[in-house]
Amino acid sequence: MSENRSFRAVQERNPALWEKIRASPKDFRVLTGERPTGRLHIGHYFGTLRNRVHLQEMGIETFIVIADYQALTDRGAGPELRRNVHDVVLDYLAVGLDPGAGTRIFCHSHIPDLNQLLLPFLSVINVSELQRNPTVKDEIAQTGQKTVSGLMFTYPAHQAADILFCRANLVPGGRDQLPHIELTRSIARRLNERYFEEPFFPEPELLLSNAPLILGLDGRKMGKSLNNAIFLASTADETATLIKKAKTDSDRTITYDPEGRPEVANLLLVASLCLDKTPETVADEIGDGGAKVLKATLTEAVNEYFREIRAKRSALAADPAVIVDVLREGNDAANAVATRTLDAVRGAMGMDYY
Ligand code: TRP
Repeated sequence: MSENRSFRAVQERNPALWEKIRASPKDFRVLTGERPTGRLHIGHYFGTLRNRVHLQEMGIETFIVIADYQALTDRGAGPELRRNVHDVVLDYLAVGLDPGAGTRIFCHSHIPDLNQLLLPFLSVINVSELQRNPTVKDEIAQTGQKTVSGLMFTYPAHQAADILFCRANLVPGGRDQLPHIELTRSIARRLNERYFEEPFFPEPELLLSNAPLILGLDGRKMGKSLNNAIFLASTADETATLIKKAKTDSDRTITYDPEGRPEVANLLLVASLCLDKTPETVADEIGDGGAKVLKATLTEAVNEYFREIRAKRSALAADPAVIVDVLREGNDAANAVATRTLDAVRGAMGMDYY
């Protein structure tokens, strides 16, 4: 099926999926995560983090992978990896992801049995499936890599191991994750058919967030290296300075027009998410105030919305032992689950020699 068609199918299934989740949260297990490439920004927050907290509050068991091996697909390893992993843990805890509520935060590099699942998984897919993955193709094109590493081609199968090691059936994520989820479903189906009498692996569903895409303050993609992102860890002053430099236009009357005035619309969108109003309402309230009032409104809204999260983050950052404890606890839990799954797979494949 083409990517477009499968995306539309996922979109169509989403409302019913939400219904099922609300009706019986206990039937679901979430696995999601990201590459540790730096601190998380408000785009991550409104795009996924807030939704994860919501799922956690519904009582859904949640595993979150800090995908450190996957981070090697587009950058090297080194001392900054440690900093990045620690930053991501702080961001998670600050927004309310909570090991006390059963959320496990772990990283690839410490879960050997998860990584070993990659081998049987690779045995049931073929090279052309890996080669035609549109997300991988985009990433190769974007990073302008001259040669493509074996890890780059195989990381979607590794991601399937992230999801299936704990037999998660729900993966919150964006459209770019869809090819990986489809591969995961194929792997689950093929292993079930080949090696198990009763289905062992679920075929996970992609749960799309309904948050609109937030752009950077210059209208480009919000990214950490572009100096256009408001981070969860940014101070109120840094936020004000960044927003002052945001791109707008010279029309004094503020209107919400995503097509005609994309930069202004994006600022209105962020303000509207923080203020829990529609972007149109925020625009009406600013009226003829122009870019100046728009920026003042946005600065106030962002700083107010993130005040507590930021305070919590700096309090946590003052005690590095917290990060280590959370990771250790998450890794221990993930290791126990991964060992059980790998044992079951080896058993099913006839590799239980003693
Ligand atoms: N591919 C995801 C990203 O680049 C990160 C990721 C790794 C992930 N493993 C995952 C997401 C499993 C969802 C489920 O952001």
